[in-house]
This record gives sequence, structure tokens and C-alpha cells, in this order.
Amino acid sequence: MGSISLRKVEKAYGHGAKANKVIHGVDAEIPDGEFIVIVGPSGCGKSTLLRMVAGLEDITGGEIHIGGRIVNQLEPAERDIAMVFQNYALYPHMSVYDNMAYGLKIAKKPKAEIEARVQKAARILELGSLLARKPRELSGGQRQRVAMGRAIVRQPQVFLFDEPLSNLDAKLRAQTRLEIQKLHRELGVTSLFVTHDQVEAMTLAERMIVMNGGRIEQIGTPEQVYGTPASTFVAGFIGSPPMNLLAGTATGASFAVAGATLALPAAAPRDGALTLGLRPEHVALDPAGPWPLQVEMLEMLGAERLVYGLLGGTLCTLRIEGTLVPPKVGETVRINAEPRHLHWFDAASGQRV
Ligand SMILES: Nc1ncnc2c1ncn2[C@@H]1O[C@H](COP(=O)(O)OP(=O)(O)OP(=O)(O)O)[C@@H](O)[C@H]1O
Ligand SMILES: [Mg+2]
Repeated sequence: MGSISLRKVEKAYGHGAKANKVIHGVDAEIPDGEFIVIVGPSGCGKSTLLRMVAGLEDITGGEIHIGGRIVNQLEPAERDIAMVFQNYALYPHMSVYDNMAYGLKIAKKPKAEIEARVQKAARILELGSLLARKPRELSGGQRQRVAMGRAIVRQPQVFLFDEPLSNLDAKLRAQTRLEIQKLHRELGVTSLFVTHDQVEAMTLAERMIVMNGGRIEQIGTPEQVYGTPASTFVAGFIGSPPMNLLAGTATGASFAVAGATLALPAAAPRDGALTLGLRPEHVALDPAGPWPLQVEMLEMLGAERLVYGLLGGTLCTLRIEGTLVPPKVGETVRINAEPRHLHWFDAASGQRV
């Protein structure tokens, strides 16, 4: 059973007065077999958290459980995990086969078992025809597959991935993403996957953990995190282009922002200082719409077009169909949003209201 339980996990680098706390009490329950993605900006503590699960960093506070047993004091080799890094670090002088077999040889597994496990991993990863090659004779994507093969042959309870795709070009990244999904369907092993790329997070995750500054902002399915972001941080981080966020003051069904007062389709959840969130695809051009938008810039992306414009003093983004006749730069158009697509956040804390 490869469930993972994080209970009030803390991490500080250094000691005493010089201690720098980077993880501030993280709680998460990950059931056996789940594919969970940890996503957040650079420096938010993703790798630190993963390395604590792996046993490569001491745990300053709290408990980590893997498969029902507490692992705080266990060495990495005793935790029954396998890790795949961004830097795949294959042995250059060994063949693909030997790179995958190496850990099992060290563990003194019988030869026939090693052969069977390597062949199975090679089949899953479609590396069968490359087993005799050296790493330098492989593409970046193939090398990354060998690194995954090395993890698979160990048959761990948990896979840990730290940005394994970030050395690959965009096309290969997309392709390898699909392979990782397939791999997970086939093996069903609990996986913790770290990335700073929200598209990668959205496409791979069964559930995602959004982190910011050593804390969890939200845990949920991609649909939950995208559809009901728990904070302005999540709203601005997940989604591209990000959610429009307008700071203002609500009084009933009117919302005063810099440079304009917007009539709302329904009363705000409360009066006072709030932040209004609007996804670019949920704002529509509508000649009868209540809000003015002064068009500043257009971007044609093919299937869709982005319209950038000023709503009062705030630059907002709209996403419209590429086949629609776009407004002209400099023109002021009317826009509209449905009540169910308005997100409200507390102005001070940034938390959803
Ligand atoms: N060995 C270390 N000693 C001291 N501070 C460290 C050490 N490793 C990481 N940190 C600090 O801990 C914080 C979290 O770092 P971490 O590497 O976990 O971030 P990350 O979310 O993985 O970022 P990235 O997306 O850039 O990889 C950062 O502020 C970093 O400077
Ligand atoms: Mg990192």
C-alpha cells in the first residue's frame, strides 16, 4: 500500500538564530495509487517537500507516513520509493539495459528476475530496440524514458518526480506527458510529481497541491482548482492567461474599481473591499453589456484571439473565438459576464469569499 500522509510537515535550513524556515506545516493525505502534482512558483518549497518524502532531507517538524508507517527516521533505501529527476544522470559508459539493471544488481536480485523486470519496463516504455545503446546515442526524450525505466524496475510503492520534463523541448514534453499518463494507468503506483508548469500540472494531475511560500494554498482536482480557486494566488497562478483580478469596493450590486464603477449582474457577497476575479473566457463582447472596455492590443492564437483592454484603470484580458470579427485597437466596446462566473476574494487575505 503506497499511501502517503503528510502531517504538519515543517522544514528549516540551518539552526538557531540562522534557521530559515521554508516549509510551514504542510498537511496532505494521498491515497494509494493516486497521481498527485505539486505545483507552485520557483522557491516555494516543492523540491524540499519531495526530498523530505524521499529521505534526502531531514524533517524539521511533523510526520511523513508512507504505506502506513512513519518514515521520518528511515534512510531513502528503506522507504520503498523511486525518484526521477530533471537531470536524468545516466551512467554514460553503460548500455541502456545496464543502466536500468544496475540498482537491481547492487541489490543482488537473481539474474532471471532482473532480466524479466528490465524487459517489462522496456516494453512499457518502448525502449526494447534501444537496450544495447549508450546514453550518448539517445535523444533527450529517450534518456528521460531510461531514467523512468530505472525507477520502474525497482517496483516501488511510490514514484517521486522532480520536474522530469523540463529539459525537453515543448513537443517532446507534451509527448512524454502522455507517456507518463499511460505509465500510471498501467502500473497504478502512487506518484508525487513536482512542476512549476501549471499546464503540466493540469494535464497530469488526478489532484493537485498548489503551494506558495512553503504553504499549501489549495488541494483539489484540476477542475476544482480551476473552477473554484481558493485564493487570488491560485486564481492568478492556474490558467493561462491568468484570471483577471480587479480590486475595488462593493456596495450592493455596484463595484467601484479604479477609474470606473461597474454595475454587477447580482449583488456582491458582501459590501466593502473585495477583489473580483473574471476568467478571460468568461468575459464576452456584448453590445448591450454593462461594462466598457477600451481595447489596447490583440493577439491572434489561431483557434482563439486574446483581446487586451482597460476596464476602468485595470488591464483585462478576454479570450474570444478566432473566427469572430475582433474589435479595433483604440475602440471602446461593451462587455458582459454571467453572474455564475464572478469570483470574489477578500481584499486583505486574498481568500475566496
Ligand atoms: N540546501 C539548502 N539550504 C538552504 N536553503 C535552501 C536549501 N535548499 C533550498 N533552500 C531554500 O528553500 C526554499 C525552497 O526551495 P526549493 O528548492 O524546495 O524550491 P522549489 O519550489 O523546488 O523551486 P524551483 O521551482 O526553483 O525548483 C528556497 O527559498 C530555497 O532557497
Ligand atoms: Mg525544485
